[in-house]
Amino acid sequence: MEYKLRKAEPKDVSDILRLVKELAKYEEMEHQVTLTEKELLEDGFGDTPFYHCIIAEIQGETSNPKVVGFAMYYFTYDPWVGKQLYLEEFYVMDEYRGLGIGSEILRHLSDLAMKTRCTGMMFVVAENNEPSVQFYKRRGAEDLSQEEGWRLFRFDKDSLVKMATPAEE
Ligand code: COA
Repeated sequence: MEYKLRKAEPKDVSDILRLVKELAKYEEMEHQVTLTEKELLEDGFGDTPFYHCIIAEIQGETSNPKVVGFAMYYFTYDPWVGKQLYLEEFYVMDEYRGLGIGSEILRHLSDLAMKTRCTGMMFVVAENNEPSVQFYKRRGAEDLSQEEGWRLFRFDKDSLVKMATPAEE
């Protein structure tokens, strides 16, 4: 099947949100997705993009191209080793899996990491997502929770509000 990878454009936000929701559903956490197309548009395509996306598109012979997969990423900084690529979302629609699209996306991101002199690519995988854990491990990924004992933490908005400067009355 013919597909191509390209950088996401503003017109892609509805497809990006659709795939974000599909991935959340796959992870059985769909109810946690509150993001809107408007936010995706502002946050990814404004003066300071907070994320970047690579889109995988199937070339329909008679119909319009169809977005079937994507990766969302951004750059982070590790004070021990420097620049890192952070893979935030990675998803290919069920019926298009196993065609090499995911591997091609990882190749593209690895090329980008080399070009920008990143020293690694970080990502989080749900513990029960065994197929993906194995997919990453087959490509050399290390499980840092297991090997180095790191734990993932978050301050939610309520905690931040408590710590933040109180709003002026
Ligand atoms: N579904 C899934 N995997 C299949 C498959 C199928 N129907 N048929 C074959 N595979 C195997 C392939 O042989 C390949 O094995 P390899 O690791 O030995 O190369 C691997 O699974 C898939 O490789 P590829 O075709 O390059 O990737 P993909 O396009 O299927 O995308 C994922 C990989 C992980 C993005 C995709 O499986 C996915 O979206 N999974 C669900 C969401 C998810 O878990 N995302 C990651 C969250 S951290």
